[in-house]
Amino acid sequence: MVKDLLKKSRSYRGYDESYLVTREQLLELVDCARYAPSSVNLQPLKYRLVYGDEVKTLQPLTKWARALPQLTLPHPGHCPTAFIVICQDLEISDSIPRFQKDVGIVAQSMLLAAVEMGLGGCMIGNFNAGEVKKALSLPEKAAPVLVVAIGKPDEKIVLTQIDPGQSTDYYRDENDVHYVPKRKLEDIVLN
Ligand SMILES: Cc1cc2nc3c(=O)[nH]c(=O)nc-3n(C[C@H](O)[C@H](O)[C@H](O)COP(=O)(O)O)c2cc1C
Repeated sequence: MVKDLLKKSRSYRGYDESYLVTREQLLELVDCARYAPSSVNLQPLKYRLVYGDEVKTLQPLTKWARALPQLTLPHPGHCPTAFIVICQDLEISDSIPRFQKDVGIVAQSMLLAAVEMGLGGCMIGNFNAGEVKKALSLPEKAAPVLVVAIGKPDEKIVLTQIDPGQSTDYYRDENDVHYVPKRKLEDIVLN
């Protein structure tokens, strides 16, 4: 069920590094993204697959869990073993704001497919596009717009419900269990 996949598809920040995500798995995720809707059907997004040794190049350029500055996440030895860098082909459209919604749709589609494959991931918007472009020798026309980490999750995440006015900040307990507060259904429907 889609709802079960949505509940399971959390932003994982801890992975089993002994599980190496393959190029074939990443291609399957991008193939799922291909079916996503796109504004005026322009489909300006392209995908740079990062796996194997290249992961070490990209990992230090990604910033994780800004709400937990006291922690270094992922913990050493628990990094994702692949990334998909979503790029916008500027020759198709040079308006990046116009396609931000497309980016969200393809990213979530790939993450849901990853969960179905027994994997998991995390969207990373906190990176410097120029640095990533240079490190991966991306073509001039390719602007990185979102990084999606992929791996075999090895951490526990618990969803909680909050009332209006309560903090939406995610947090961890002494056992490194990660808690993600979500607003209640009755608090997000406007009528
Ligand atoms: C567009 C977008 C960008 C994000 N960027 C980052 C990021 O740079 N680093 C990070 O650790 N998490 C990032 N996240 C993950 C969010 O922090 C996460 O979705 C939120 O804490 C809720 O947790 P959940 O995805 O498990 O529901 C991003 C999420 C979205 C939707």
